[in-house]
Amino acid sequence: EQQQDLAGRKIIITAGPTYEKIDPVRFIGNYSSGKMGFALAEECASRGAHVTLISGPVTLKTQHPHIRRIDVESAGEMYEAASREFTDADAGILCAAVADFTPESVADHKIKREKDDLVLQLKPTQDIAASLGKQKKPGQKLVGFALETNDERQNAQGKLERKNFDFIVLNSLNDKGAGFRYDTNKITIIDRQGYTDYPLKSKREVACDIIDKLVRN
Ligand code: C5P
Repeated sequence: EQQQDLAGRKIIITAGPTYEKIDPVRFIGNYSSGKMGFALAEECASRGAHVTLISGPVTLKTQHPHIRRIDVESAGEMYEAASREFTDADAGILCAAVADFTPESVADHKIKREKDDLVLQLKPTQDIAASLGKQKKPGQKLVGFALETNDERQNAQGKLERKNFDFIVLNSLNDKGAGFRYDTNKITIIDRQGYTDYPLKSKREVACDIIDKLVRN
């Protein structure tokens, strides 16, 4: 029997990629599958939480009746949903791979092939994590993710502070079988006390470790 240590808690989770429209048939996206965020949602729900899962475009399905799913496409839509849903939540887990830039304008018609170079003007998106970190009230918890290619621990530590997370989960792209699209992941959890390395595990087991940390914290 799963212990119900999140009974009655509201937890919001962002998951998956975002798509930023270029024209009616094209977008800027990324390789996030949503698997880690969906595993976290199932784990939280099985421990008694009411989960609001805010997901970018993914092919995954949700199973548990206590997962309320809000499907979004762009960083802007994810920002709107997350800001609204976090206000009465006990915790937020920000697992989504949110685009950092979005086209300055969306073309009305499909952009045609030309001989000349095509230049897309991009503008920064809102940082959902930083915004929720500012909005965070006493008693609310905020967990972030980081995917780094260099100076991993130092960069993740900077994000922990800048975005006001309670702890941050670092995935390394240097580890075989970890990260985007895989069913396994290898993480380091960093908080203000220090860091803990975990071995390579299934994403559901990784989700269990992260939620254990959230409950203990
Ligand atoms: O700064 P960076 O994108 O590496 O930070 C990663 C963390 O911030 C993740 O938890 C991610 O979900 C979150 N994030 C966000 N909104 C953005 C960019 C990142 O919530 N626009």
